Amino acid sequence: MKKLIGLKKIKTAVFISGRGSNLKNLIKFANKKKFPISINLVISSNKNAKGLKFAKKNKIEKKTINFANLRKAENKILYLLSKKKINFICLAGFMKVLSANFIQKFNGKIVNIHPSLLPKYKGLNTHKRAMENNEKFSGCTVHYVTSKLDSGKIIMQKVVKITKNDTIKSLEKKILKKEYILYPLAIKKILINL
Ligand code: GRF
Repeated sequence: MKKLIGLKKIKTAVFISGRGSNLKNLIKFANKKKFPISINLVISSNKNAKGLKFAKKNKIEKKTINFANLRKAENKILYLLSKKKINFICLAGFMKVLSANFIQKFNGKIVNIHPSLLPKYKGLNTHKRAMENNEKFSGCTVHYVTSKLDSGKIIMQKVVKITKNDTIKSLEKKILKKEYILYPLAIKKILINL
């Protein structure tokens, strides 16, 4: 993707559906002077998403969008994004699949974090499937979003070891810790001229 950084931070929206711990972490980084994005909008597909509280706490505009009708939902989001002059989107535990039409409008400017070593274990229940397959390693991936689920170009990955004492919960915890390091790093990698 074209390097976007100038002197100003890139106005970013984070899309969530639930807990929002990656959102919380990205807000922490975005509050640092040298981090290339500011978070100006949080979109949730779920009005009860716990993560919405992090937007509120940090005085970031937040909107819950009803996805019963995808086209209407996306039009509403596109309106909000243009109103807030958003130029970059981070998906963080966002459980809806965006249409090709929407993605095209933000081509190369939507990224996602996924809790597996893609291309392995796209979709849901990644930790359970990795353990059932007796994988020795798992991890997390930040990738560009395309219209094919969890299939866009990989930006960065972090690996964790699966030990014999691991449970789905412990593996999730270990990987989440890595996610909090990886997502900010991957954002820096694509947005700052190193
Ligand atoms: C994370 O594991 C992320 O990789 C996946 O969904 C989970 C979201 O967690 N896409 P949180 O809502 O950021 O706490």
